[in-house]
Amino acid sequence: MASLVTRYMGIELKNPLIVGACSLTTSTGSVKKIEESGAAAIVISSLFEEQIQLERYKLEEDLEKLKYVYPEMVSIFPDLEHAGPKEHLMWVRKVKESVSIPVIASLNAINSDTWVEYARLLEETGVDGLELNFYWSPVDFDKEGSAIEDEQVDILGEVKKAVSIPISVKLSTYYSNPLNFIKRLDKEGVDGFVLFNRFFQPDIEIEEEKHISHFNFSSENDNKLPLRFAGLLYGNIKGDVCSSTGIMNARDVIKMILAGAAGVQFVSTLYKNKVTHISTMVRAVEKWMDDKGYKNLDDFRGKLSRKNSKDPWAFTRAQYVKMLVHPEKMVENISVL
Ligand SMILES: Cc1cc2nc3c(=O)[nH]c(=O)nc-3n(C[C@H](O)[C@H](O)[C@H](O)COP(=O)(O)O)c2cc1C
Repeated sequence: MASLVTRYMGIELKNPLIVGACSLTTSTGSVKKIEESGAAAIVISSLFEEQIQLERYKLEEDLEKLKYVYPEMVSIFPDLEHAGPKEHLMWVRKVKESVSIPVIASLNAINSDTWVEYARLLEETGVDGLELNFYWSPVDFDKEGSAIEDEQVDILGEVKKAVSIPISVKLSTYYSNPLNFIKRLDKEGVDGFVLFNRFFQPDIEIEEEKHISHFNFSSENDNKLPLRFAGLLYGNIKGDVCSSTGIMNARDVIKMILAGAAGVQFVSTLYKNKVTHISTMVRAVEKWMDDKGYKNLDDFRGKLSRKNSKDPWAFTRAQYVKMLVHPEKMVENISVL
């Protein structure tokens, strides 16, 4: 039987399947089920500084209002204040204690000091690694892209100095040249790259003409970009690549390893196909390897990366040119008439 063992962030994993940060990682029941279904590791949903700030403002606002209705509140509870990240930290500890697979905490802060402070607190919970969720949605017309990148490189450097557990970064696709930015982070000694995050996007409902929001689950087509970057990065950086977004089944896991990934993270497929889908994926990867005669992941990891592929143009713009010049060579035979 093939061995699916891999290393991600310097941590040995029994297979490359990691459940990404999501609300499934906020209940003990689902966390245990994730482990039972065969996931190799779990990322706990992010500790968001912004959420804590909002809750703190809300509490202060509510207390201010109550002061006029129940003035004795202030004298009975003079020190009433928001618990900050304590609740989240307690939860992280609980998850770590309830499963035996590696647990990775995730952090998204706003202020540089908080990145470091919360990273230390998360490390103290006993987690095996820390994922820095560099969630930055562009809304500011004046901030230059290079300033955002510099800040994130600085944050990584500061966090690395403050903690000793392995650190990964989860990036969006919104960088002018992600390869250059990844290279900069790699030089800082990051242990893993989660490529890529998927942002919640706003939507509009046209009958009532109002904004609505939904989960924006991925579909299989969304994994082409992570596949491309796994292929481009293989053999060019020290940190491990964990492909993420649009990984729906075993086929997608195999593709990412062939491109060069150390592991994969997935979320949407669990909401669509239930947590037990993990065991189906693990078994199907095993079967594919057995059928192909592969004994372990390194037998085929990176085989179709840019570095090792027989088609040196596979990950470049020439692929696009090929599509325009030779549409008959594409997989689909499209007829519209
Ligand atoms: C309900 C839900 C909650 C999520 N919460 C987080 C989070 O706390 N931190 C984070 O980095 N990503 C979060 N994500 C993003 C996922 O971890 C993942 O990057 C994204 O869904 C793309 O992977 P997928 O295509 O497998 O769904 C969340 C996604 C969903 C659907």
